[in-house]
Amino acid sequence: MLVTKQKILRRFWYALMPMSVLEDGPRPFTLLGEPLVLWKGADGQPVALEDRCCHRTAKLSKGSIEDGRIVCAYHGWTFDASGACVRIPQAPDKPVPKACRVRAYACQEKYGYVWVALDDPLQPIPDFPEDGAPGYRRIFQFYQTWKTSPLRFMENAFDSAHFSYVHRANFGIYEQPRPSIYEIKEDAWGFEAHTVVPVKNPPAGHRVSGSTQPFIERHLYNRWYMPSVRRFGCIYADTGKHHIIYNCATPIDDSTIALAQWLYRNDDESDCSTEELIAWDAPIVEEDREILEATDFDACIDTARRAEQHMESDKPGLLMRRMMLELLRQHGEDEVYNERRA
Ligand code: FES
Ligand SMILES: [Fe+2]
Repeated sequence: MLVTKQKILRRFWYALMPMSVLEDGPRPFTLLGEPLVLWKGADGQPVALEDRCCHRTAKLSKGSIEDGRIVCAYHGWTFDASGACVRIPQAPDKPVPKACRVRAYACQEKYGYVWVALDDPLQPIPDFPEDGAPGYRRIFQFYQTWKTSPLRFMENAFDSAHFSYVHRANFGIYEQPRPSIYEIKEDAWGFEAHTVVPVKNPPAGHRVSGSTQPFIERHLYNRWYMPSVRRFGCIYADTGKHHIIYNCATPIDDSTIALAQWLYRNDDESDCSTEELIAWDAPIVEEDREILEATDFDACIDTARRAEQHMESDKPGLLMRRMMLELLRQHGEDEVYNERRA
């Protein structure tokens, strides 16, 4: 599935960048192949416009912010949050023509991030119930660019068969490659997936898990939010530590994602510091990135065209494909894909 070719994907919210990035002025971001400019408006809320001035096409992201509005770097035309041009400095005595505007997109701040939907969103921004809930702290762990697609990221996120191989250097048990099987509950916009995974607990993970045992169990209460957000709801059974991760695999273009990772913990800094938590998850994320960047980015969703025999642990990935294909077809689309495919 080539994400920039599937119109329906424009109707979901995507996490683009931390709000803090906008403190220094406007920033460009390409979402589903569409160049955007983002900035922080006068009310503190983020704004997203087409990154192309309607005068002589200069990128507005090269401009500056004055009174919460964006000023084009080329001739100073100024645009408000609705995309309307409100000032043409060279013609101060004439009214600005109504046609002088650029496209504006739905844009909100949530969980400390800027979220954008290119077209009328089908669903609200996914709910992260731990955010702001008593007893939880939020840690921004990672904000990275990966050469892969959202579906590759999402299928990997529910693939318990890769732990023993990809993550053998930390929690994966190489000697025990039989994967844990998820119990899956499907609903209209994704699914819940529960399983129990035995893992290694090396010294670097002791304060993360709260245990010094060499092997421990993770109870995973995961969720897929169609199309590109996932919850990794990990609870260490013996200690009750919550290590809840949310990832957004935001499609930049057909072969690139912006990966955002938030962590929620039900403990505090003296139990396990932010630095320790980042140091624990960083190599795991890097291992996933390395293997995913070694796959074809274009993951097909029409499984009728696939010849392989699937393992039981491939079921969440297959369900995602079926649900994505149904969504496309409900909206009159078919899958657009590369010639050379998985
Ligand atoms: S190109 Fe933007 S003001 Fe001229
Ligand atoms: Fe992984």
